[in-house]
Amino acid sequence: MCKMWCRRLMRLDKYLCKSTDLTKSEAVEKIHRGEVSVNSETVFDESIQVHENNTILLKGNALTLRAFRYILMHKPAATICSNIDEVYPSLLNYLEIDKPSELHMAGRLDADTTGLVLITDDGRWSFNITSPTKSCKKVYRVTLLRDIKDDVAERFKVGVQLQGEVNPTRPAELEVISPKEVLLTITEGKFHQVKRMFAAVGNRVVKLHREQIGEIRLDVQQGEWRYLTEDEIVSFNQ
Ligand code: URA
Repeated sequence: MCKMWCRRLMRLDKYLCKSTDLTKSEAVEKIHRGEVSVNSETVFDESIQVHENNTILLKGNALTLRAFRYILMHKPAATICSNIDEVYPSLLNYLEIDKPSELHMAGRLDADTTGLVLITDDGRWSFNITSPTKSCKKVYRVTLLRDIKDDVAERFKVGVQLQGEVNPTRPAELEVISPKEVLLTITEGKFHQVKRMFAAVGNRVVKLHREQIGEIRLDVQQGEWRYLTEDEIVSFNQ
């Protein structure tokens, strides 16, 4: 997807990890042993920058980078959007694939939030989803403690001031489903943003579920995942 305009530039040890089953320490060892060449020269420094147009050989065999991975997952509650387990297990435990630790989440959800999470190892792509400058929409289904007040849609449209933030929130869209259930569409992802927005208007989120990111809607069961289609992947390239 990014072939026309960018080269994947990275350290030599990382290149080895992304093109073989080697761990980082195994890759470094092979480089130090003189088993790796870059453009016909044996290289002993694992930190040099290489890219996929270089000819990189391990014991004479050409190495090709694995393609980037793009995954949609339905996050259950009591899991975390982190690469390591903490109080709750990492979402990556649900992926039965190679080297899950190379992946990251394109926008995190709180431990108690459920719903759509996109996971990848392509940092440029996830920037298109997470950066507020890209205005990628995220749709949340929110269950509230108190009935929604009539002025909230307008206040969210204008932007509300969250505690500790310099700028108000960007314009957000509120659709009322019932007095205590709404759909909220936002285009940024400040820390605990949805919960803080409702706190700013005197309400409280009791349940939060992300249904949509960009044009991608959740279509797998809790704890399940699938790879994105080519069309879904490119839908975030603007
Ligand atoms: N906003 C929140 O408050 N929590 C989330 O998990 C996502 C958005």
